[in-house]
Amino acid sequence: MQRPWIWILVAAPMVLMISFFFLMLSETGDRESRPAAVRVSGDALIGGPFSLVDHTGRNVTDADYRGRAMLIYFGYSYCPDVCPFSLQIVNAAMNLLTEEEQARFQPILITVDPDRDTVEHLATYVTSPAFPNGLVGLTGSHEQIDAVIAAYRVVAMRAPDDGGDPDAYLMDHSSFTYLMNEIGQFEDVFSHGSNPADMADRLRAYLENTPEG
Ligand code: NI
Repeated sequence: MQRPWIWILVAAPMVLMISFFFLMLSETGDRESRPAAVRVSGDALIGGPFSLVDHTGRNVTDADYRGRAMLIYFGYSYCPDVCPFSLQIVNAAMNLLTEEEQARFQPILITVDPDRDTVEHLATYVTSPAFPNGLVGLTGSHEQIDAVIAAYRVVAMRAPDDGGDPDAYLMDHSSFTYLMNEIGQFEDVFSHGSNPADMADRLRAYLENTPEG
């Protein structure tokens, strides 16, 4: 009756090793809870050059924000809930950073509703105290907005049921906040309803991995 004991001696370390291996796998999975598609390679599958108009009426491109990491949210100012909530999350996350850390980010709202989000309208909207300091609002022609929406893989369309009022329509749109690095390349993405503390941690991690300058 010695054989069972031998098997336990052989099996126990193996079970331990296998459990440890799976534990490591699942930890890695947790840390990188990002859409798999955007982690396939380091190349920019999301993002790219854009040419838009900011809320002061200035023509801008992505190159105007080099040297700071862009935190880009796509939404629209007439959005009743999702957009203001997302921008407040970004604000809460930024407020968890030091001033020096905050200065390395440029929060940006790109409208998916250029018809109503005129320069003047965005100018009022982006200065809300509930939103991140220095939030830049970007709008443009339909062509310009369509191009940037496609580059960032954003889905946005006018909601089918607009209640008959041509000015009171809603936009259905994806709700992600993109972190683009200081040379405009994709770094990270935050889903709607992200926890501000988690977002702040990931922003800090980005800064730690990115020497200033
Ligand atoms: Ni919205």
